[in-house]
Amino acid sequence: MMPRLFSKFLFFFMFLAGMCTTTVAAHKYPKPPSLAFLYQVNITAGGFYNIGPGPKGRRAVIPIANGTFAGPQLKGTVLPVGGDWALADANYLVNGTLFPDVRQTFLTDDGEYIQVFETGASQSDGTVFVRLTYEASSLKYYWLNAVVAIGIIYQVPPNSITIDTWQMVPPSGPTK
Ligand SMILES: *[C@@H]1O[C@H](CO)[C@@H](O)[C@H](O)[C@H]1NC(C)=O
Ligand SMILES: *[C@@H]1O[C@H](CO)[C@@H](O)[C@H](O)[C@H]1NC(C)=O
Ligand SMILES: *[C@@H]1O[C@H](CO)[C@@H](O)[C@H](O)[C@H]1NC(C)=O
Repeated sequence: MMPRLFSKFLFFFMFLAGMCTTTVAAHKYPKPPSLAFLYQVNITAGGFYNIGPGPKGRRAVIPIANGTFAGPQLKGTVLPVGGDWALADANYLVNGTLFPDVRQTFLTDDGEYIQVFETGASQSDGTVFVRLTYEASSLKYYWLNAVVAIGIIYQVPPNSITIDTWQMVPPSGPTK
């Protein structure tokens, strides 16, 4: 038997979900989402602070000096705040995975702020895969709050990176 409180809660949740989403027909096979290009960002670091080993691994802090971003729907500069609070895993000597923890503040060319949050993991080819979320208050960029995005970080020696990002969009066409 479903406890009464839980069943009430479930009903409420389904009611909310019904209000917020469109009903989509069930299908037999999982359909992979498609990706739409969001933007490219180039960032130059303003230093490197090796915090060293701690309970979670080796921490380093890499502040952002400056940067530029450009994509089909947004472009502008990266403000000199934020950075990467990167963690090399506790087994760094036998397993070289690096986990970035990045915050960036974008200033669009039309004067709006966008806050970017980004975490991920390094890959064996030297790139870093990231997942990104956004906070925007401007109505023009408010859609970014609902974006589910992924990206790839490329190192550009000596002290820059390029991050290419894509947003998840609905599956295109049926999948067999
Ligand atoms: C970006 O920051 C780097 C490092 O501080 C500096 O050398 C460079 O001149 C800056 N570029 C711009 C466009 O401000
Ligand atoms: C990033 O840097 C590359 C290489 O210099 C350049 O081709 C590209 O236009 C830059 N992108 C942005 C958004 O600044
Ligand atoms: C790190 O360890 C994990 C878990 O054992 C493994 O899947 C991964 O391939 C390792 N990464 C590297 C770079 O060795």
